[in-house]
Amino acid sequence: MAEIKLTVNGAQRVVDSDADTPLLWALRDDLGLVGTKFGCGAGLCGACTVHVEGQAVRSCQFPVSDAAGKAVTTIEGLAPSADQPHAVQAAWVAQQVPQCGYCQPGMIMAVAALLKETPHPTEQAIREGITNICRCGTYPRVVAAVQQAAK
Ligand code: FES
Repeated sequence: MAEIKLTVNGAQRVVDSDADTPLLWALRDDLGLVGTKFGCGAGLCGACTVHVEGQAVRSCQFPVSDAAGKAVTTIEGLAPSADQPHAVQAAWVAQQVPQCGYCQPGMIMAVAALLKETPHPTEQAIREGITNICRCGTYPRVVAAVQQAAK
């Protein structure tokens, strides 16, 4: 165990953790940021997606020590302020994307990273770029929300 310094949602945080502990567990168990979800634990589903230095990463496969000194953003820190949702979050509400909702924080984080890199993606680019899995099959509404957020 060692003290690992992180910058999470703009705040300096310290976790006491093994270096190879997945970032997911440091966020959820040590910092109480439970918006980031555990799905497969194998890097396949994307429920655990967060941003590290603006890049979408699957935090179940990302050692917490690799995030030391880097900017980590979770779903709790995506919106610019408490009363102003991120454009992707606003589109999610407008398109009523979630069904059970479990995968949606990871989906939104993946989409926010995609749009930062590709502000106006084609439908094909959306479908190829977002590989997160949704058991409820909300994919058509995900695509519609991405297209709305991209306008
Ligand atoms: Fe990390 Fe599924 S829980 S990819």
